[in-house]
Amino acid sequence: MSDDRLFAVKMRAARAGEHISGAERVVPAHDIPALAAALAERALHHAKGNPDEIHLKAEVAGEIVHLEALPVSTHVTQTPEEGRAVAARLLAGAGITRIDEIMARFDETYAMRGAMLLDADTLERLEPDRARGVRATYMDAASPEKSRQARPSRTGGEDACKKNHFAEAVVLATKVANAPGIVGEICVSDDPDYVTGYVATKEIGYCRITTIKRKGDPCGGRIFLYRGPREKVAETIRFLQEQCVLVDCMPDCPPAPLAPAVAQERDPPAGGSGVSPLLDEALADELREAADQGLLRVCRVRPEGMISFASNDYQNLAADPRLKEAACAAIQRHGAGSGASRLVTGTLPEHARLERHLASFKGTEDAVVWATGYMANVGTISALVGKGDAVFSDALNHASIIDGCRLSRADVFVYRHGDMDDLARQLDASGPRRRKLVVSDAVFSMDGDLLDLPAFLAACRRAGAVSMIDEAHATGVLGATGRGLTEHFGCKPDIILGTLSKALGSEGGFVCASRIVCDYLRNRSRSFIFSTAPGPGAMAAADAALSILEAEPGRASALRAKAARFVAALNEAGVACATQSAIVPIPVGDERTACAVSAALECAGVLIPAIRYPTVARGAARLRAAVDIGKSDADLRRAAVLLSAALRMPT
Ligand SMILES: Cc1ncc(COP(=O)(O)O)c(C=O)c1O
Repeated sequence: MSDDRLFAVKMRAARAGEHISGAERVVPAHDIPALAAALAERALHHAKGNPDEIHLKAEVAGEIVHLEALPVSTHVTQTPEEGRAVAARLLAGAGITRIDEIMARFDETYAMRGAMLLDADTLERLEPDRARGVRATYMDAASPEKSRQARPSRTGGEDACKKNHFAEAVVLATKVANAPGIVGEICVSDDPDYVTGYVATKEIGYCRITTIKRKGDPCGGRIFLYRGPREKVAETIRFLQEQCVLVDCMPDCPPAPLAPAVAQERDPPAGGSGVSPLLDEALADELREAADQGLLRVCRVRPEGMISFASNDYQNLAADPRLKEAACAAIQRHGAGSGASRLVTGTLPEHARLERHLASFKGTEDAVVWATGYMANVGTISALVGKGDAVFSDALNHASIIDGCRLSRADVFVYRHGDMDDLARQLDASGPRRRKLVVSDAVFSMDGDLLDLPAFLAACRRAGAVSMIDEAHATGVLGATGRGLTEHFGCKPDIILGTLSKALGSEGGFVCASRIVCDYLRNRSRSFIFSTAPGPGAMAAADAALSILEAEPGRASALRAKAARFVAALNEAGVACATQSAIVPIPVGDERTACAVSAALECAGVLIPAIRYPTVARGAARLRAAVDIGKSDADLRRAAVLLSAALRMPT
């Protein structure tokens, strides 16, 4: 009778009570005899010596979770110091900063049967049994070929052995990276003959580092880094030690470590990889330097289950069922993408409908949409002014305005932030021009303060300049019904630009202006003409968001009241800050301190990103809290108290 059950098979070998070798497999019953023989063989021939105990255990696997293997990358390093610097850079993205102190803990992991579990920030040990550590068990590669490849063979030479270790390490790292609360893992080979190691997180994947320790050094092991409440540590340990995991989509074992970069440059591989190691080296230096200054950026997957002040989805519309439904219906009708530029065959009914709706919402004759707000700024400014013209830009304007000014090749005059006298002076000093364009954020994205629109328009009028404001953070936030800064002050510039990606919960950028201006932009804006039109789903979602703001006109004032309550709670907790919008900046100054405060808050379950150079000036780092309409008063108070405590902690 056939037995279809899966068994978790484990081998552990030790000498004089000290761990030498171990392995894990999840296999069908009929594979157990051959596997047991292979694992025993492996235990008997380990570089760390002959075991005097070999434990083989097979038990029926419980409920199985399937996980996708972490992506694998290789980082060639020549010295342990370089390897550690690479590890530090890679882990900085997970907010793991005390890498030297963590690496020093490998002195304690030698001969530990499991891994050390450390609090990623305080470096406190969290395992109940420190001699044993935490063992990641009950896991294997899911695909039959990879499982077979991963198994030791009696005849397999050194190569087969390496493949075993690679596959096993990827399986383990994948399980560990997916364990609740684990933010990273560092592994250093405990084999004196190997100098390799890896660091892994869900975001960066499995990053092999070719030299991370000195040859002959027997110290090594694994350190798992945890971030979260103490009461949830037990859940993490349970997942690591008891949850049966099969890892899908196992990558192939990468080739042996590359030769040193300089040697490769002299003797490039046939066909070429297309990547210059010299370029990699130069860029890696720059990245290291950025990391040293607390300026390294890493794209992290958004953490779940936090009180988040990180999103600009001010009206909580991105996940509103009405937007989702509208987007799905549009995608069902027209597909996921629009297939071409608007001027070719890319214009769909959703684009036309949204443009009409934006124009009526903002009270202008017409509107134009782009795929992003960034493209709208770059494409509008560079279309409206050119060589010989003059463009005037507030010193704290958004990067997309700055880039639009640069791209236009007009003379750029940067006036002091919010200083209308300085603007007027510079307008006068610029002399006669074919065209003068003055551009300003309506709400300044990193400071949350407002443009004095009446004074701005007066300065533009006096100088005969075209006025343009960017309502990215004003639409859905300011004015009695959320129509923006224009509604707040009751006056309008020549051009109102905005984005669909913030309070409107979708994606895309727009300009609302006269029919002539809009037609001109459709003819001259290069980011409109030479780019595929935004997808119908995003357009329909934004259209639905506008309808919601129209049907529920009290939303903007409700949002502002939340922001005001957050500021009041912060002030009460001793944190000096203010806002006129939904953006609450909390000044810190030093970049590393801002990152440390943000990381400490994240540990406590509150997400408030640190904003650093070049988004703001050097030494003007801050935390930027974006308040959304969904925050409860309790969340606002809790975040304020935690933020105040984090700011007071020694760094
Ligand atoms: C003031 C301002 N303008 C434009 C943009 C760009 O908008 P998008 O994210 O849609 O490209 C942003 C935000 O990213 C912004 O803050």
